[in-house]
Amino acid sequence: MSGRFIVFEGGEGAGKTTVAAAVGRRLAHLGHEVVLTREPGGTPAGERVRALLHENLVPWGEAFAFLVARAQIVHELIRPALERGATVLCDRFAASTMAYQGHARGLDMATLRAANMAATGGLEPELTIWLDLDPAVGLARKLGEAESIRTGLEAVAFHERVRDGYRRLMEEAAPGRWVRINAAQPLVEVEMRAWEAISGTRPRGG
Ligand code: TMP
Repeated sequence: MSGRFIVFEGGEGAGKTTVAAAVGRRLAHLGHEVVLTREPGGTPAGERVRALLHENLVPWGEAFAFLVARAQIVHELIRPALERGATVLCDRFAASTMAYQGHARGLDMATLRAANMAATGGLEPELTIWLDLDPAVGLARKLGEAESIRTGLEAVAFHERVRDGYRRLMEEAAPGRWVRINAAQPLVEVEMRAWEAISGTRPRGG
């Protein structure tokens, strides 16, 4: 596969979607084929999973729902795009499951890791950009939005655990694979830091 796979992670209201879109416009402007997508979503089945999350799912039900969406998006969208050399920018990926369902919700990490591996076929992003923000600030931003996915309405304590989960995932990551950006900065600064991280990363095989 010759394309680049870059993932944006972070808690609620951190600005992942906006920053990914800005980076995508910049890459497209330079002539790259850019596939901008999100999880859960990116495929018809994935979008239906997003709707399913409004149901009162039990914790493993919720985890498997995210994994359904992940298996589909990897197979239908991400791998084909990487194979034709596109840059894939994905708003959330496997790390979200480890941070939310694992660290925050308390589901067994080893099982989640194995399930992620099955869903992705071992595909990992070359770079994960973590937009880190105080959950109280992020939730205040988010709750202004119409969307109210179950996890978005939960207590700040849950989202503190999510943040701690991301911290640990970054510590465990191989050097250069994770970048933390302070998402409390003005958006233009956050976008600039993300751009630096992406343009400073050597393309796979390049
Ligand atoms: P968002 O992409 O708009 O932030 O909404 C997705 C919500 O789903 C968000 O609350 C995080 C949550 N989520 C998980 O809990 N686990 C996952 O694996 C993924 C992809 C998302």
